[in-house]
Amino acid sequence: MTKLLFIKASPLPDDVSRSMVVASAFLEKYKQENPNDVIERVDVYEQDIPLIDGAFMAAGNELRGGKVFADLDPVMQDKLTKFDALTQQFMDADRYVIVSPLWNLGIPPMLKAYFDTVVVAGKTFRYTANGPEALLQNKKALQIHGSGGVYSTGESDLETHGEPYINTILNFIGVETLPSIFVEGVDYDPTRKDEILNAAIEESVRRIGLF
Ligand SMILES: Cc1cc2nc3c(=O)[nH]c(=O)nc-3n(C[C@H](O)[C@H](O)[C@H](O)COP(=O)(O)O)c2cc1C
Repeated sequence: MTKLLFIKASPLPDDVSRSMVVASAFLEKYKQENPNDVIERVDVYEQDIPLIDGAFMAAGNELRGGKVFADLDPVMQDKLTKFDALTQQFMDADRYVIVSPLWNLGIPPMLKAYFDTVVVAGKTFRYTANGPEALLQNKKALQIHGSGGVYSTGESDLETHGEPYINTILNFIGVETLPSIFVEGVDYDPTRKDEILNAAIEESVRRIGLF
Protein backbone atom coordinates (compact mmCIF):
# COMPACT_ATOMS: atom_id res chain seq x y z
CA MET A 1 0.00 0.00 0.00
CA THR A 2 1.36 3.41 -0.98
CA LYS A 3 2.09 5.78 1.88
CA LEU A 4 2.19 9.54 1.43
CA LEU A 5 3.85 11.66 4.09
CA PHE A 6 2.50 15.22 4.18
CA ILE A 7 4.98 17.55 5.88
CA LYS A 8 3.81 21.01 6.92
CA ALA A 9 6.46 23.61 7.79
CA SER A 10 4.42 26.79 8.23
CA PRO A 11 3.34 27.60 11.79
CA LEU A 12 0.27 29.42 10.44
CA PRO A 13 -3.18 27.75 10.54
CA ASP A 14 -4.02 25.68 7.45
CA ASP A 15 -6.52 28.22 6.16
CA VAL A 16 -4.12 31.17 6.61
CA SER A 17 -0.85 29.76 5.30
CA ARG A 18 -0.94 30.32 1.55
CA SER A 19 1.18 27.30 0.75
CA MET A 20 -1.15 25.20 2.93
CA VAL A 21 -4.28 26.50 1.20
CA VAL A 22 -2.77 25.25 -2.06
CA ALA A 23 -1.52 22.01 -0.48
CA SER A 24 -4.91 21.25 1.12
CA ALA A 25 -6.67 21.59 -2.24
CA PHE A 26 -3.98 19.39 -3.80
CA LEU A 27 -4.41 16.78 -1.08
CA GLU A 28 -8.18 16.59 -1.52
CA LYS A 29 -7.74 15.88 -5.22
CA TYR A 30 -4.89 13.46 -4.50
CA LYS A 31 -7.10 11.48 -2.12
CA GLN A 32 -9.86 11.25 -4.74
CA GLU A 33 -7.40 9.86 -7.27
CA ASN A 34 -5.57 7.60 -4.78
CA PRO A 35 -8.29 6.45 -2.37
CA ASN A 36 -6.28 3.51 -1.07
CA ASP A 37 -3.19 5.47 -0.10
CA VAL A 38 -2.28 5.85 3.54
CA ILE A 39 -1.68 9.52 4.35
CA GLU A 40 0.27 10.61 7.41
CA ARG A 41 0.94 14.19 8.43
CA VAL A 42 3.97 15.70 10.11
CA ASP A 43 3.47 19.20 11.47
CA VAL A 44 6.92 20.45 12.39
CA TYR A 45 5.62 23.39 14.47
CA GLU A 46 3.05 21.28 16.36
CA GLN A 47 5.02 18.10 16.99
CA ASP A 48 7.90 17.60 19.34
CA ILE A 49 10.78 17.46 16.84
CA PRO A 50 13.97 16.57 18.77
CA LEU A 51 16.80 19.04 18.27
CA ILE A 52 20.33 17.74 17.86
CA ASP A 53 22.36 19.40 20.61
CA GLY A 54 25.46 18.60 22.65
CA ALA A 55 23.69 16.22 25.04
CA PHE A 56 22.09 14.38 22.11
CA MET A 57 25.43 13.93 20.37
CA ALA A 58 27.07 12.81 23.63
CA ALA A 59 24.35 10.18 24.12
CA GLY A 60 24.97 8.89 20.59
CA ASN A 61 28.67 8.62 21.31
CA GLU A 62 27.96 6.77 24.56
CA LEU A 63 25.74 4.25 22.77
CA ARG A 64 28.38 3.70 20.11
CA GLY A 65 30.86 3.21 22.96
CA GLY A 66 28.77 0.34 24.32
CA LYS A 67 26.46 2.03 26.81
CA VAL A 68 23.10 0.32 27.16
CA PHE A 69 20.10 2.39 26.00
CA ALA A 70 18.22 1.76 29.27
CA ASP A 71 21.11 3.30 31.20
CA LEU A 72 20.72 6.65 29.43
CA ASP A 73 18.95 9.51 31.16
CA PRO A 74 15.15 8.94 30.69
CA VAL A 75 14.77 12.33 29.00
CA MET A 76 17.44 11.35 26.48
CA GLN A 77 15.82 7.94 25.96
CA ASP A 78 12.57 9.70 25.11
CA LYS A 79 14.34 12.09 22.74
CA LEU A 80 16.17 9.30 20.93
CA THR A 81 12.99 7.25 20.63
CA LYS A 82 11.12 10.18 19.07
CA PHE A 83 14.06 10.87 16.75
CA ASP A 84 14.22 7.25 15.55
CA ALA A 85 10.45 7.12 15.06
CA LEU A 86 10.60 10.15 12.75
CA THR A 87 13.44 8.58 10.76
CA GLN A 88 11.50 5.33 10.44
CA GLN A 89 8.27 7.08 9.46
CA PHE A 90 10.11 8.88 6.66
CA MET A 91 11.81 5.69 5.49
CA ASP A 92 8.48 3.83 5.42
CA ALA A 93 6.82 6.39 3.13
CA ASP A 94 6.77 6.19 -0.67
CA ARG A 95 5.72 9.72 -1.51
CA TYR A 96 6.16 13.07 0.18
CA VAL A 97 4.53 16.46 -0.04
CA ILE A 98 6.58 19.18 1.61
CA VAL A 99 4.76 22.42 2.25
CA SER A 100 7.12 25.18 3.28
CA PRO A 101 7.40 28.95 3.35
CA LEU A 102 10.57 30.84 2.49
CA TRP A 103 11.94 32.46 5.63
CA ASN A 104 14.81 34.90 5.32
CA LEU A 105 15.94 33.26 2.09
CA GLY A 106 16.01 29.82 3.72
CA ILE A 107 13.73 27.25 5.35
CA PRO A 108 12.00 27.59 8.74
CA PRO A 109 14.24 26.29 11.54
CA MET A 110 11.86 23.53 12.61
CA LEU A 111 11.87 22.11 9.09
CA LYS A 112 15.66 21.99 9.27
CA ALA A 113 15.36 20.21 12.64
CA TYR A 114 12.98 17.74 10.99
CA PHE A 115 15.38 17.09 8.09
CA ASP A 116 18.09 16.44 10.69
CA THR A 117 15.96 13.54 11.95
CA VAL A 118 15.62 11.97 8.50
CA VAL A 119 19.07 12.54 7.01
CA VAL A 120 20.83 9.91 9.07
CA ALA A 121 24.10 8.19 8.17
CA GLY A 122 23.64 4.44 7.94
CA LYS A 123 19.87 4.72 7.45
CA THR A 124 19.03 7.15 4.63
CA PHE A 125 22.56 7.68 3.29
CA ARG A 126 25.98 6.22 3.91
CA TYR A 127 29.56 7.31 3.61
CA THR A 128 31.68 5.46 1.07
CA ALA A 129 35.23 5.80 -0.20
CA ASN A 130 33.75 7.67 -3.17
CA GLY A 131 31.67 10.06 -1.11
CA PRO A 132 28.14 9.91 0.30
CA GLU A 133 25.65 7.49 -1.21
CA ALA A 134 21.86 7.73 -1.00
CA LEU A 135 20.11 4.72 0.53
CA LEU A 136 16.46 5.45 -0.29
CA GLN A 137 14.97 4.22 -3.56
CA ASN A 138 11.69 4.47 -5.46
CA LYS A 139 10.47 7.52 -3.58
CA LYS A 140 9.16 10.80 -4.97
CA ALA A 141 8.45 14.19 -3.44
CA LEU A 142 6.52 17.29 -4.40
CA GLN A 143 7.31 20.61 -2.82
CA ILE A 144 4.75 23.40 -2.40
CA HIS A 145 6.75 26.49 -1.60
CA GLY A 146 5.37 29.83 -0.43
CA SER A 147 7.24 33.12 -0.62
CA GLY A 148 6.31 36.76 -0.33
CA GLY A 149 8.42 37.73 -3.32
CA VAL A 150 8.90 36.15 -6.73
CA TYR A 151 12.07 34.12 -7.20
CA SER A 152 11.25 31.16 -9.44
CA THR A 153 11.26 33.19 -12.65
CA GLY A 154 14.86 34.33 -12.23
CA GLU A 155 14.00 38.02 -12.25
CA SER A 156 15.20 38.54 -8.66
CA ASP A 157 18.91 39.06 -8.06
CA LEU A 158 18.64 37.37 -4.69
CA GLU A 159 19.89 33.84 -4.29
CA THR A 160 17.41 31.87 -2.18
CA HIS A 161 18.11 28.69 -0.23
CA GLY A 162 14.60 27.49 0.54
CA GLU A 163 13.15 25.53 -2.37
CA PRO A 164 16.59 24.56 -3.81
CA TYR A 165 17.81 23.31 -0.43
CA ILE A 166 14.76 21.12 0.11
CA ASN A 167 15.23 19.49 -3.30
CA THR A 168 18.96 19.04 -2.73
CA ILE A 169 18.59 17.41 0.68
CA LEU A 170 15.86 15.07 -0.59
CA ASN A 171 17.96 14.08 -3.62
CA PHE A 172 20.90 13.54 -1.26
CA ILE A 173 19.09 10.66 0.45
CA GLY A 174 17.65 9.25 -2.78
CA VAL A 175 14.23 10.89 -3.06
CA GLU A 176 13.33 12.02 -6.57
CA THR A 177 11.84 15.52 -6.62
CA LEU A 178 9.06 16.61 -8.96
CA PRO A 179 9.08 20.18 -10.32
CA SER A 180 8.05 22.40 -7.39
CA ILE A 181 4.89 24.42 -7.05
CA PHE A 182 5.54 28.07 -6.20
CA VAL A 183 2.97 30.11 -4.31
CA GLU A 184 4.78 33.38 -4.64
CA GLY A 185 4.33 37.10 -4.86
CA VAL A 186 1.23 37.66 -2.73
CA ASP A 187 3.12 39.95 -0.32
CA TYR A 188 4.22 42.05 -3.29
CA ASP A 189 0.72 42.35 -4.69
CA PRO A 190 -2.04 41.19 -2.30
CA THR A 191 -4.70 42.05 -4.89
CA ARG A 192 -3.49 39.05 -6.93
CA LYS A 193 -3.84 36.59 -4.03
CA ASP A 194 -6.77 34.55 -5.42
CA GLU A 195 -5.26 34.47 -8.91
CA ILE A 196 -1.88 33.28 -7.56
CA LEU A 197 -3.38 30.64 -5.28
CA ASN A 198 -5.77 29.29 -7.90
CA ALA A 199 -3.02 29.01 -10.51
CA ALA A 200 -0.82 27.15 -8.02
CA ILE A 201 -3.68 24.78 -7.12
CA GLU A 202 -4.30 24.00 -10.79
CA GLU A 203 -0.62 23.35 -11.41
CA SER A 204 -0.27 21.20 -8.29
CA VAL A 205 -3.17 18.98 -9.36
CA ARG A 206 -1.41 18.39 -12.67
CA ARG A 207 1.57 17.00 -10.70
CA ILE A 208 -0.52 14.12 -9.31
CA GLY A 209 0.05 12.16 -12.49
CA LEU A 210 3.82 12.46 -12.05
CA PHE A 211 3.86 10.64 -8.73
C1 LIG B 1 10.17 35.05 9.43
C2 LIG B 1 9.76 35.28 8.01
C3 LIG B 1 10.72 35.45 7.04
C4 LIG B 1 10.36 35.65 5.70
N1 LIG B 1 11.32 35.77 4.77
C5 LIG B 1 10.98 35.94 3.46
C6 LIG B 1 11.98 36.04 2.46
O1 LIG B 1 13.16 35.95 2.70
N2 LIG B 1 11.56 36.23 1.18
C7 LIG B 1 10.26 36.33 0.84
O2 LIG B 1 9.95 36.50 -0.33
N3 LIG B 1 9.28 36.20 1.77
C8 LIG B 1 9.63 36.02 3.07
N4 LIG B 1 8.64 35.89 4.02
C9 LIG B 1 7.24 35.91 3.58
C10 LIG B 1 6.68 34.49 3.42
O3 LIG B 1 7.52 33.66 2.67
C11 LIG B 1 5.33 34.57 2.73
O4 LIG B 1 4.43 35.32 3.53
C12 LIG B 1 4.73 33.20 2.41
O5 LIG B 1 3.46 33.36 1.87
C13 LIG B 1 4.68 32.35 3.64
O6 LIG B 1 4.09 31.11 3.32
P1 LIG B 1 2.85 30.60 4.16
O7 LIG B 1 1.76 31.65 3.97
O8 LIG B 1 2.51 29.31 3.55
O9 LIG B 1 3.28 30.48 5.59
C14 LIG B 1 8.99 35.70 5.35
C15 LIG B 1 8.02 35.53 6.34
C16 LIG B 1 8.39 35.31 7.66
C17 LIG B 1 7.32 35.11 8.70
